[in-house]
Parts: sequence; C-alpha cells; structure tokens
Amino acid sequence: MDTKYISPDIGVLRANICNSPYFEGFWKIDRGVSVNAYLLTGEKKVLVDLYSEWEHCDQQAESQLKEYGFALEDLDILVMNHMECDHTACVADLMKRNKKLHIYCTEKAAALLKNFVKLEEKDWERIKTVKNGDTLSLGKGVKSGTELSLTFYETPNIHWPETMMTYENSSKTLFSCDAFGSYGALNDGRVFDDEFSEDEHRMFEEECLLYYATVVASFGVPVKNGIAKLKDLDIAVIAPSHGIVWRKNPGAIVERFAKYAGYNTGGEQDKHICVISGSMYGNTSRGTEALIEGIKETGVPYTLLNIPETPLSHVLAQAFRSKGLALAFPTYEYKMYPPAVHVLDMFARKHIYNKTVARIGSWGWSGGAQKEYEQLTANLRWTNLESLEWQGTANEENLADLKALGKKLAESL
Ligand SMILES: Cc1cc2nc3c(=O)[nH]c(=O)nc-3n(C[C@H](O)[C@H](O)[C@H](O)COP(=O)(O)O)c2cc1C
Ligand SMILES: [Fe+2]
Ligand SMILES: [Fe+2]
Repeated sequence: MDTKYISPDIGVLRANICNSPYFEGFWKIDRGVSVNAYLLTGEKKVLVDLYSEWEHCDQQAESQLKEYGFALEDLDILVMNHMECDHTACVADLMKRNKKLHIYCTEKAAALLKNFVKLEEKDWERIKTVKNGDTLSLGKGVKSGTELSLTFYETPNIHWPETMMTYENSSKTLFSCDAFGSYGALNDGRVFDDEFSEDEHRMFEEECLLYYATVVASFGVPVKNGIAKLKDLDIAVIAPSHGIVWRKNPGAIVERFAKYAGYNTGGEQDKHICVISGSMYGNTSRGTEALIEGIKETGVPYTLLNIPETPLSHVLAQAFRSKGLALAFPTYEYKMYPPAVHVLDMFARKHIYNKTVARIGSWGWSGGAQKEYEQLTANLRWTNLESLEWQGTANEENLADLKALGKKLAESL
C-alpha cells in the first residue's frame, strides 16, 4: 500500500471488504466497501474512526499504520465519531493493548459503548465525552510543525443517534464518518477524488446512491440538519469512513447528499420511472411489457427491475431517486405476490415518499392484490394513477390500456 496523506500530518488508512456479499448482513454489495480511518500526528497521536475484525480490517489497518511509522501502542486518542460495529468492534482489544489510549465521543456514544464493548471498570475513566463545538489541541504536527486541533460537531441520527463529525482546523479536514460515504472498495492504492476518472466517478456515484438508499434514506431530515450545521465551516477535505476522500471537490459530495436527502423530504426527484415487476407465469410481465411500450413513446427514461431476482438494494435505490413508479405483480392466495410485499414493506421503512405510481397485475378468480396494496401504501404520500388489473392473460384491449397507462404515467412526471 502507498501511504496517502491529506496533509503532512494526516494519513489515510483504509481496509477493504472485497469478499463479503452483504453490508449490515443483508444489503448486497457487488463492488465491496472500504472502511477508512485517519491517523493524525501532532504531539498527540490520534486515530479518527476505527475498525472491526470484518475481513481482518483490524489487521489491514495495523499494517498500514506501520507504513506510516506508528503502532497501535503509540496512539494517545481514538476519536469515535460513530458507534456502529463496523467501526468499533475492536475497541476493547485496542484499549487492552494500549493502556494510555483515551476515547473521545459524544455522551450518547459513551452510553452505548457500555452495551457494545465490555470494558473493565477502571477503563471507563479513559472515555471522554465531548459536546458540539468543543475543541481539542493536538500540539504541533510532527512533520509540519503546524498546530493541529480538533473541533467536534454533534450530528445526531446520521444514521445512529450518537453520531458526530470531527473537524481538523489547520488542514480544514472534516472527518464525517458515515455521512458523505459510499460503497465501493478502494483497493488499488487510490483514495482521493482527483485520482479517479469520470467513468470511475459514475460507478462510485451508483455506489453512493446504493449506500444512501440502504443505510441513510430514513434520515433525510437529520442529514439536512447536519449539512445546515456545517454550512459556515470552511471545508477543504471531506474524509468519510467509507469510500472516496474528497479534496479536489468536497462540495460535490455534500451537494449529492443534500440532493439525496431531498428525495424523500419534499425535494426534487429524478424524472425517471422505476418499473418493478414480478410474475409467476408471465401474465403480469406481459402487461409490464405493454406498459413499457407506452413509456418508451414519451422518451422518459426508465429502469426495469424484476423481483425477486434484483437485489433489494437496487430496487430501493432506483425507486428512491425516481419520480415515477410502476409496480407490476399478480394476486397470490387472496393477497399480493409475496416478493412485492417485501419491497413495499422496505419502501415504508425507508420512507420512499411522494411518488406518482401506476400499479398493474393479473389475477385468477377473485383478486385481492389491489386491496392489500392500498393498505400497505396508505401512508406513503403517493399519487396513484388508476390501477389496472386483468383476469388471466391480458387481451388486446388490456394491452392497449396498459400501454396508455404507461404513457400517462410518463407524461404526468
Ligand atoms: C400459488 C398461487 C396462488 C394464487 N392465488 C390467487 C388468489 O388468491 N386469487 C386470485 O384471484 N388468483 C390467484 N392466483 C392466480 C394468479 O393471480 C393468476 O394465475 C395470475 O395470472 C398470475 O399472474 P402471473 O402469471 O403474472 O404470475 C394464484 C396463483 C398461484 C400460482
Ligand atoms: Fe454506520
Ligand atoms: Fe459505517
């Protein structure tokens, strides 16, 4: 690994998860994820954010630390911006190995830490709680001789209640932890935004949307509040705990998160239709094809995602950003086709609000899907165009109506 410096006294550590299929145990990640931490070398030696043992992140980080010329035992302070286990699972081990280490975190994080990390009674004295605006001097930088200092910003509920961000004043670096993060491993030595091509940025943007939709989407208002709290801060570098470090254009990732936060809090959504289609024997999917013919006539972009085979993370991300939804699924045992229930349940959990929607589907003898659909979506603030159902295989008239509905949906956006 190459050592990577944000400034002469701030090094980037990153462990990469490349072989695990899921994040948080169930969100499919195809391009892995990085877990970042940062080494600050003032007179005090500080690690901002930490690791778990997940895919030996702790060992990856420890060997990187060596490349910067330091060992875990040299650290004076761990700044724990966030308590989630991907960043904290090896705290107890670290405290055992390094008896002089102090942890800085919010009061809420300290309370949570007790439940997640089994520490000895005397070790609790090593936990220091900080409040919004508190500062901490680290002394002169080992290499630069410049005074380093940290200021803490409480940013609750992005995406746990105890979260904060940490700002280093001399380099104007914001350590934002999970905020401004993304999926996608950083496993070829590059970490900074200016080291990636436009194509690679497009790929990371997809990963960022997946990350936001799966991990952060329910917290749109706290994200907006967090961004508002930082608005007067002069930020030169954004250093999150997952994904790219932004030093050329830190505003880009803040703008992106602000846009995403708006998707379910009354902001502008993409003029795009997410078509989600599930079918047992093809009767419904034939209807989906007709609907799409109608969409195509308008030129409005759409994405077709078949369920259950499309990972839920992708279904969620595309639905989250899209102004229009088309939902196609049949009746199953007097109710909805079960994979669609799973999708709608996730939409409710993740606040997939304010959509214009067309729902279609086939039924056999008495139907039932529509009734359950109406119950499950009652609180999602959706504008439903008429739902179109038909018995068995769609006839020519049904297909013409479906095509017209697709066109109407697209034209209404
Ligand atoms: C396991 C199973 C359960 C079904 N339950 C119902 C039902 O409760 N009510 C109904 O009207 N049709 C029911 N149907 C009929 C389907 O809704 C009908 O066959 C429909 O055309 C299936 O659409 P598809 O080809 O898109 O899967 C059921 C079909 C299957 C295979
Ligand atoms: Fe987290
Ligand atoms: Fe995280």
